[in-house]
Amino acid sequence: MKRHRVHKEKTDIAHSIDWNGLIPKHIAIMMDGNGRWATRRGLPRSAGHYAGMQTMRETISMCHKNGITSLTLYAFSTENWKRPKEEVDYIISLVVEFVQDATVQELNQNNIKVHFIGDISRFPEETQEAMHKVVKLTQANSGMAVYFAMNYGGKNDIVQAIKSYIEVNIEQNKDTSEISEAEFETFLYTGLNPAPDLLIRTSGEKRLSNFLLWQAAYSELWFTDVMWPDFNEQLLYESIRDYQQRKQRALDDITT
Ligand code: IPE
Ligand code: IPE
Ligand code: MG
Repeated sequence: MKRHRVHKEKTDIAHSIDWNGLIPKHIAIMMDGNGRWATRRGLPRSAGHYAGMQTMRETISMCHKNGITSLTLYAFSTENWKRPKEEVDYIISLVVEFVQDATVQELNQNNIKVHFIGDISRFPEETQEAMHKVVKLTQANSGMAVYFAMNYGGKNDIVQAIKSYIEVNIEQNKDTSEISEAEFETFLYTGLNPAPDLLIRTSGEKRLSNFLLWQAAYSELWFTDVMWPDFNEQLLYESIRDYQQRKQRALDDITT
């Protein structure tokens, strides 16, 4: 009985989306709540991170299946280094595992292009090597782009963009006193694909926590109390439907 109900709700939401209408092209997700998910089950926080990693795999596949063109996943922030070393090491080991296992082959077969945004130079050599390998493996792919935000901070992103802008312009002997917003944002880690249409945060927290500060200037924000390991396709559909309704309302406002 219960199973049937869950299935029905899922179908209803999927059907209430106009798949020919406005679909967010770029979705960014703050995958929050792994620790609380585990603690509530009497498990160590590491179990939450492990479960969260599985949810991340499933979410990439859901987004790919539903025609999303870019997905940015906040996996590790510049502030996350303040956590106990053991937890930080475990999260990093999960990333290495992810970029080395069969999932990556699957991403590649699905024509998905992998990027890392953030200052990855702070990670151990072998972690960086594993990251570079995946980027290289998938660089010619033309399907969905997945951006893993690792040691990412919005403030750091802006500062590194300023540094690169100055460096490039000085190299070319150009005047650095004039700069447009459009030119500036190409120097951000997100490059030519900066702005998420929809930004999702799980776990009930409602803050940006130093994520995509510049890029999210006009993103629609969507929050759920569900902890990241329990995020699923139904919630993804719910966020997309909400996004569509808000965009439709905005369109109606200018046409009436
Ligand atoms: C998000 O879950 C994952 C990372 C920040 C790596 P948390 O670890 O922040 O889980 P909570 O917020 O403590 O529940
Ligand atoms: C944001 O979650 C970072 C990630 C999801 C990787 P946090 O749980 O680290 O955020 P704060 O520090 O509680 O705001
Ligand atoms: Mg958290």
